[in-house]
Amino acid sequence: MNPMVALDIGTTKVCCLIARLMADGMIQIVGYGVAPCRGLRQATVVDIDQTVAAIEQAVHDAQSMADIPVHHALVGVTGAHIETIQRRAEIVITRPDREIAEEDLERLRFQIQQIALPPDRELLHTLIRSYIVDGQRGIANPVGMSATHLQAEALLVTGGLTFLQNIRRCVERAGLQPQMLVLEPYASGQAVLTPEEREVGVALLDIGGGTTDVAVFLEGSLAFTASVPLGGNHVSRDVYLMFRIASPEEAERVKREYGCALAERVPHDELVSYLEMGTLQQRRVPRRLLTEVIEERMREIFEMAYAKIQRSGLTHRLAAGVVLTGGGACLPCTAELGRQVFESLPVRIGIPTLQTYAAGEGEIGMAQSIQQPAFATAVGLLLIGAQERMLHPDEGTTQRLWKWFVQRFKRLFKRP
Ligand SMILES: Nc1ncnc2c1ncn2[C@@H]1O[C@H](COP(=O)(O)OP(=O)(O)OP(=O)(O)O)[C@@H](O)[C@H]1O
Ligand SMILES: [Mg+2]
Repeated sequence: MNPMVALDIGTTKVCCLIARLMADGMIQIVGYGVAPCRGLRQATVVDIDQTVAAIEQAVHDAQSMADIPVHHALVGVTGAHIETIQRRAEIVITRPDREIAEEDLERLRFQIQQIALPPDRELLHTLIRSYIVDGQRGIANPVGMSATHLQAEALLVTGGLTFLQNIRRCVERAGLQPQMLVLEPYASGQAVLTPEEREVGVALLDIGGGTTDVAVFLEGSLAFTASVPLGGNHVSRDVYLMFRIASPEEAERVKREYGCALAERVPHDELVSYLEMGTLQQRRVPRRLLTEVIEERMREIFEMAYAKIQRSGLTHRLAAGVVLTGGGACLPCTAELGRQVFESLPVRIGIPTLQTYAAGEGEIGMAQSIQQPAFATAVGLLLIGAQERMLHPDEGTTQRLWKWFVQRFKRLFKRP
């Protein structure tokens, strides 16, 4: 079977995972590569050459490890250009037995997608939230039920055409066909949330380098998404500028080594040493001062994310609280700060988990090294790829649509 390839093109790094979907539904990761990337700003491509080079490097490393050629990739996308539309559509079941078939769901999905999008928008996902069968709401799978009227409520996710084209172009220039573009926080949600959390209501915050992506899941599906144009890189930059550190790389080191999202957790007498800008001499400052700067920016990020969630009107539905993931969630005390900002909601850190098929020690080691918040999107992309494969084992999306059109056409001609 063809391998699955996940490509998370982030503001700080490109991550490529190559995996096999086993017959029992388990995913076996056979290769991975991570390359630093400077071609994006706030999840948007600003330098095609640098982005292509980072993709090539990550894919090359993953491919050498896997020792299998790859041609297609599931690609993550995010940013301020992402928008959502709530839609409801209805079809009538006219067959004599009134039994709902898979084909009716395809017909309903097609109906939902009949929306006039502006020419600069592209449809990314049609996520069916629930079916309504003859007025009965909350049906997850109506196939096999009898009804005359079948409705569906869906969330359409759209992206800015040019932003998506630029991502596609980078992937193509790196030698891969973008097989599917997937909303990143939607993918991360598959990797770090439990099905129960997604059912009862949960907000996911993926704190990346350039953006913090928000996704609210409710009744098992995505209910809301938004993006805050701030992430861990803004924290590092504050540290760099406030303490006049010799280089951004040195500031990143200082943040990772001594950083904390809650200043009150750091003793007053601890000192941090670093190289100073210009003089290149060792300087020392109280660690408490450093963490105050970090906390201020992290608080701002959380407050902005919380304001977006509140505006969606879903705060009171978050029974499972908030889950923080992405590299930015690695800062100590991040969950604790979250508990302060998100009022009474429970907060935890989300680490991607994947049921790996442990064929040998290599696979087990590899799975452990990607079990970090920064890999949530890439692992989630694999899980979405696996779901797609299991739903449609032998066909690509185009083939399926084509088959559906042919069937519909034949039926038209059969009518008396
Ligand atoms: N151990 C750590 N402690 C503190 N911050 C960390 C740690 N590890 C990573 N980060 C921060 O996480 C951020 C990168 O996270 P991630 O890899 O999820 O971003 P990305 O996917 O490249 O970016 P984006 O999703 O915004 O496009 C950086 O700002 C980095 O400083
Ligand atoms: Mg990311």
